[in-house]
Amino acid sequence: TTEPRIFKGLAGVPVDVTAISMVNSDTNSLLYRGYPVQQLATRCSVEQVALLLWDGELPTPERLAEFQLEERSNRALAPNVLRAVDDLPLTTHPMDVCRTAVSILGANDMDAGSNSTAHNLRKARHLFAQLPAIVAYDQRRRHGLALVEPRNDLDYTENFLYMTFGAVPEPEVVAAFRTSLVLYAEHSFNASTFAARVIASTLSDMHSAVTGAIGALKGPLHGGANEAVMYTFDEIGTPDRVAAWLDETLASKRKVMGFGHRVYKHGDSRVPTMRAAMVTMLEHFDRPDLLEMYMNLEEAMAARTGILPNVDYPTGPAYHVMGFDTETFTPIFVAARVIGWTAHVSEQLAANALIRPLSVYVGAAQRDLPA
Ligand code: CMC
Repeated sequence: TTEPRIFKGLAGVPVDVTAISMVNSDTNSLLYRGYPVQQLATRCSVEQVALLLWDGELPTPERLAEFQLEERSNRALAPNVLRAVDDLPLTTHPMDVCRTAVSILGANDMDAGSNSTAHNLRKARHLFAQLPAIVAYDQRRRHGLALVEPRNDLDYTENFLYMTFGAVPEPEVVAAFRTSLVLYAEHSFNASTFAARVIASTLSDMHSAVTGAIGALKGPLHGGANEAVMYTFDEIGTPDRVAAWLDETLASKRKVMGFGHRVYKHGDSRVPTMRAAMVTMLEHFDRPDLLEMYMNLEEAMAARTGILPNVDYPTGPAYHVMGFDTETFTPIFVAARVIGWTAHVSEQLAANALIRPLSVYVGAAQRDLPA
């Protein structure tokens, strides 16, 4: 008998079809419903991109207006969500706060027991509207600051920043943040999206799928890398220490966070757009030291290993200078990727097959209990 082949980490294995986004690693391209992400990230609002990913088409002005009205009216957090966040220790990692808050949103949902397409799409829109408030409020409470109520005259991105900082920053900052959110919104069968699809495939529910996806995103090999990038910069300290730091890190076989990708081996499609936005931010906030460290590490990594940055490399320093706590970086990713996760849950359910692979047993041979 031949040994069954193991596809460790499912690397290179297509497990289903999707019409939501296409990653082409040969051309470094990423299309959302056919549109290049670079165009969407510089020309569209997050709201337009959300509707594109959910509906399959860019919204008409009427559809967009109707959605914006609903989104703006769903931003405020329910009292029990606020209480639950307040009950968590200030030392709780913001990803755990997010996971807990989403779980409570599921418990509160009036259609918690339903998996109908219409209910799931409404749950998706509700999660999208609520997550910025959760992320923003959690950062504020860690600084001893009060909740900022949402403002209905602001779009999604402006309001996200407003609820975090209590003021809407300059248009360049809003634009860079919007770009990052669009770039983070969707990326085919990444680990967290696949986790969401696995959960959906058992006919569980939308909030369970999103809660599980948050857990998958938290790890530093996935979304947690944007947070880890900032710790790397802290650890390096000054631009002149990059080479020595990298020698030491590679010699001890540690991974350099924000570099490498399972699918892209010649560069991440999202990096050029996010890198440009990051450079704008470091110039805007006058941080040539951080820019020098960024460039030095990118160059040294390419020269030493040939490994290129992924999208989490430029988002880290961009979020830092915008004023986000390092621990808030991955929750921002949650707020954006919830669009992709919920689109994938709907797609999974529309043509569902339980996701249940096989394993090859390598443990003890059959034996009997002692008599
Ligand atoms: N630093 C140092 N070496 C690396 C790195 C890195 N960041 N990435 C890959 N390598 C090396 C790795 O050690 C291995 O070397 P060898 O063949 O000698 O053992 C080789 O490159 C292949 O790497 P791998 O880990 O087997 O490849 P993978 O496809 O399983 O890894 C990855 C993909 C993202 C897990 C990995 O590149 C990594 O750990 N990167 C750092 C974490 C990170 O930035 N994650 C964000 C991913 S993209 C956006 C997102 O999901 O948020």
